[in-house]
Amino acid sequence: MRTLSDLEDSQFHGKRVFVRVDFNVSINNGCIGEDYRIRMSLPTIEYLSKRGAKVILASHLGRPEGHDQKYSIAPVAKRLTDIVGRSRPPIRFASDCVGIEIEEHLDKMNKGDILLLENLRFHKEEETNDPEFSKKLASLADIYVNDAFSTSHRKHSSTYGAAWMFDIRLAGINLIKEVKYLSMIRENPIRPFTIVLGGVKIKDKIGALEHLLPNADKVIVGGAAAYTFLKAKGLNTGNSIIDHEHIQWVEKALLSYGDKILLPTDHVCASSPNDTSVTMVSGDIPDGMSGFDIGNETVERYSAEVGSNGGGALFWNGPMGMFEVKAFSNGTINIAKSMALAYWRGSKTLIGGGDTLEAMKRAGVAENEVSHVSTGGGATLRYLAGDEMPGLVILNHY
Ligand code: ADP
Ligand code: 3PG
Ligand code: MG
Repeated sequence: MRTLSDLEDSQFHGKRVFVRVDFNVSINNGCIGEDYRIRMSLPTIEYLSKRGAKVILASHLGRPEGHDQKYSIAPVAKRLTDIVGRSRPPIRFASDCVGIEIEEHLDKMNKGDILLLENLRFHKEEETNDPEFSKKLASLADIYVNDAFSTSHRKHSSTYGAAWMFDIRLAGINLIKEVKYLSMIRENPIRPFTIVLGGVKIKDKIGALEHLLPNADKVIVGGAAAYTFLKAKGLNTGNSIIDHEHIQWVEKALLSYGDKILLPTDHVCASSPNDTSVTMVSGDIPDGMSGFDIGNETVERYSAEVGSNGGGALFWNGPMGMFEVKAFSNGTINIAKSMALAYWRGSKTLIGGGDTLEAMKRAGVAENEVSHVSTGGGATLRYLAGDEMPGLVILNHY
């Protein structure tokens, strides 16, 4: 992959650079929630702006059906202005991503200026990778940069079709960091390599697991995912969430890799998430009860395992329980803290998944207590599964 530093600084000077970023963040009543993805795009934006490029930022936001103002990316321009600092000219904002208005903005831009385009998905042609739409996007700039690792599994105009139309296609700084860490654990993990798997979406995680399991030394399973494993082993799981569709896959995984898969032995159970009387259950979970968190004995065992990884690599995806409810957050909080401990003790730690990042924050673990927090959800899992990523394919051909 060619990166920004493969070009001379002077090659950016006065040039228009189209940067595909992923500003798909949650916005409620105009207020941005977690802005990690925005902050992670700053090194690339600053790099280009400081070298006198005219920086054109393009992203999708949500999954709108055509032009729907609810999905306007305008609040991001404001947040970006705050983050880059008041000493710079404010981020310009264009109320569309193609068309005459953009030309006017481009004419007015000085070297180093930053322009954010409106939500790409206001045009349905973005997602259909329409050649005419791609041509319009490509006509905006001289150089293409992809810094949206988290959207690189999509074959859309801005990630694929338009990218091919540029002579110069470069990988952004955050994208390079993502690929560096994720390829390490995918291809050649530092040993011992421990996977911590939780959450609910077994279906989305199977591809990654299939690829990572042979190289893993330990796989620690918690969250709702654990109940499908326990069920496959013949335990009673009560009313806990089970992924019946993938139970056979889990059975096979247990047959091949059972010796390295760790499962919970006790659980924080209740009749429903709103039930205030929670019970600690060891072994089988009675009918009418569900497991919503790993139990104390399991927390201790898992925390010790994570904390003593000993200079290897750790990948964590998926909370250990329904951490949004305080009564079921203990397992997740302890695992997050143990991940930080492992980091301070010299392990390479990677965290992926929207809910996992949220859980890490709630546990009071800072971003700089983790080697790498992936910006990707689906993209990270697809990359780890070894799937083809159109947004990376375009960077590998030049
Ligand atoms: P990520 O976004 O990090 O990939 P997932 O989306 O797979 O994680 O799963 C996160 C969700 O899993 C959370 O909303 C959490 O409440 C839920 N969850 C975890 N454990 C349980 C459980 N035992 N029972 C029900 N829900 C659970
Ligand atoms: C994500 O949030 O995973 C990326 O921004 C991609 O969004 P999408 O799943 O709507 O394509
Ligand atoms: Mg999730």
